[in-house]
Amino acid sequence: MIDKATVRRIIDTADIVEVVGDYVHLTKRGSNYMGLCPFHNEKTPSFSVNRQRNICKCFSCGKGGSPVNFIMEKEGVNYHDALVHLAKKYGIKIEEREQTDEERLQQSQRESMLVVNEWAMQRMEHNLTETDEGRNVGLQYLYQRGITAEAIKKFRLGYAIDKGQDLYDQAVKEGYDVQTLKDVGLCGESQQGRYYDRFRGRVIFPALNPAGKVIAFGGRGIKGEAAKYINSPESLIYRKSNELYGIYQAKNSIVRQDKCFLVEGYMDVIGMWQAGMENVVASSGTSLTDGQIALIHRFTENVTLIYDGDSAGIKASLRGIDLLLSHNLNIKVLLLPEGEDPDSFSQKHTPEEFRQYVEQNETDFIIFKTNVLLKGSGNDPDKRSQAVRSIVKSLASISDMIKRSVYIQECSRLLNIPENVLIMQVKQARGEVVEEMRKKREYERIEADNTQVSVEDEIVEAIKTKPDTTTPQVQEDKFAHILRPLERNVIKYCVRYGMLDYGDEVDTDGNMRDIKVYDVVRNEMEADDMLELRTPIYQRIFDRILDMVPEYQQRRNEYMDSINDDLQEVFNQGLDKIASRQLTMDEIIREEEALKAEIMEMRHQKEVQFDKLYIGRLLSNDPDDELRHEVIEMINEKYTLSKYHTKNTKVEDESERLMDLVPRALDEWKDGVLLVKLKEAQSQLKDAVASSNHEQTMAIMEYMQRITEWRREFAKQIGERIILPKR
Ligand code: GTP
Ligand code: MN
Repeated sequence: MIDKATVRRIIDTADIVEVVGDYVHLTKRGSNYMGLCPFHNEKTPSFSVNRQRNICKCFSCGKGGSPVNFIMEKEGVNYHDALVHLAKKYGIKIEEREQTDEERLQQSQRESMLVVNEWAMQRMEHNLTETDEGRNVGLQYLYQRGITAEAIKKFRLGYAIDKGQDLYDQAVKEGYDVQTLKDVGLCGESQQGRYYDRFRGRVIFPALNPAGKVIAFGGRGIKGEAAKYINSPESLIYRKSNELYGIYQAKNSIVRQDKCFLVEGYMDVIGMWQAGMENVVASSGTSLTDGQIALIHRFTENVTLIYDGDSAGIKASLRGIDLLLSHNLNIKVLLLPEGEDPDSFSQKHTPEEFRQYVEQNETDFIIFKTNVLLKGSGNDPDKRSQAVRSIVKSLASISDMIKRSVYIQECSRLLNIPENVLIMQVKQARGEVVEEMRKKREYERIEADNTQVSVEDEIVEAIKTKPDTTTPQVQEDKFAHILRPLERNVIKYCVRYGMLDYGDEVDTDGNMRDIKVYDVVRNEMEADDMLELRTPIYQRIFDRILDMVPEYQQRRNEYMDSINDDLQEVFNQGLDKIASRQLTMDEIIREEEALKAEIMEMRHQKEVQFDKLYIGRLLSNDPDDELRHEVIEMINEKYTLSKYHTKNTKVEDESERLMDLVPRALDEWKDGVLLVKLKEAQSQLKDAVASSNHEQTMAIMEYMQRITEWRREFAKQIGERIILPKR
């Protein structure tokens, strides 16, 4: 239904980093971006996104592909709809014909449900602002609660007309399928077979999934009804335990701030949004589930839970948090002054005051809990031991061993319990916690089997059952994925531009000499024995390049000789032309001068071109299959400037930015090497801590400290590198 040219345009425009970035919090690692895989639950990022190749891939579960593939899997849609999704994102217009009735019927159930929800939402938005009843009842209520017109738009608030079947009648009139209306829970059927609207005379809060699709509604009563809220039932498109209210509106801000506020209610989300805190979501009254935590974790690791400052709030803040800890999130707690919830608090304070309050009162969860329990137990030994048990359990829930040991240290101080005693207790509790989590997960899986699941959930489930690849047999190569792209990037510049002049270098005697791009890389590698190419293919390519150097000069001379005749010819023709014109002596001299300069420039261009192509041409014909393949891929890789760049400056050739790109590639590589060293040390530390080997723990921590210092040192070095631009 979409014409070929448009498909082409969509595919060419869609940027994998931007597309994946809508769902996953990505961090730049060398030339790649990494994040938590959106297709399976994981705690350490193994989802890699490569902008140059425009593809993504999970190293753990193997899922990934092009932007279209990604959207198909993530949104559970077909190829066509994935294209439509991307077109919308990039503002590309698609001319499509109206759907026939038959096609509407044939749309998958899930898609029809989303469609009907979107339709209903638009209708209820319309009701709120464009009907008398909506304005007098709904809008009036929202304004009275201090909600702005801007927030109403942003959160797509609506109003349901207070009539038995207003929505139903209209839906039928417009040809929507009754079964679908029932499936999404907008309408119900009485025992007498009459249809009625679920939401009547209520303000409507739609819940959007991260892609902005309306998956459910919450309706707040206005007249003090017994049921303050009525919500959509669970359905094919709505699994309550996997959703968070406000995630669509908050996700970009969560990524930017690298932090997520978690509150309880719809009104709290909107209130905080109005107070300038956009990175906020609500669990909608229920206690947090694994699915919700996984959803947050896609965007950030840092969560601050906001509670009312009364005793109920404090109690609530201590409940259920161990689950968050087990997901490796950094959790803070913020108590509001007594009697306030996020909504009321944000109405009474300026954004600046709110921000300050957060900064001053946010407390690390474990420390918070320890202090609360300590205070609560006073001198009662029973209460105290109960408190310690509960803290030990929280400590045992932290999956990250290093974090755990840091907290144990801190709590041992607060509780005044010797550290090794606490370590023993936590170790014991850890076993129980792990077992508990395993059971819980199993239970959730069984439960999931008994309910209808969405396509997306099916994908996640299918992936979950794949073997975990973080088992020891891959231990050795565990960090190869960090270094490989970094090494590749450096080698890529050597392949593409190795023989180009890079600049002048001042050596230790103060002499200046020309250096080429490959020289820069070689010098760095020689200067730093930490820098060695770990990936065999890249080492092979670099060796091959160094092999070529001796005969390079000779070949170049031969080539220049061969084109000298051509240039001489052009020169002679130019002279003839000048002679044929009626010029004064002065003019002739000037013209000949200009011609000479032109020929020199042509000669220079030829030299540059030779240098540019020399390595790639030889290597892309190399007998080594793997090497040839890799080199061709490097040569063919498109160089894409960032959008920012293209918009604001003229588009430059990549080869003109080498002074910029090559040092950056080297720095990224170096930083990656140090990072790997740090990670290796970290896993050794885990073992040392686990076996309570105190001496070794100290030694490793010292080593890690040293690496951190190296990184600082190396950063300084970057500043001191003397390479002058070529004049
Ligand atoms: P206001 O009372 O208008 O300030 O709403 P609120 O969003 O702040 O709600 P509150 O803090 O009282 O409750 C938190 C969340 O729990 C709500 O946003 C709802 O998701 C849910 N909730 C509260 N009351 C009910 C109810 O009566 N029924 C259902 N199904 N959910 C409720
Ligand atoms: Mn409230």
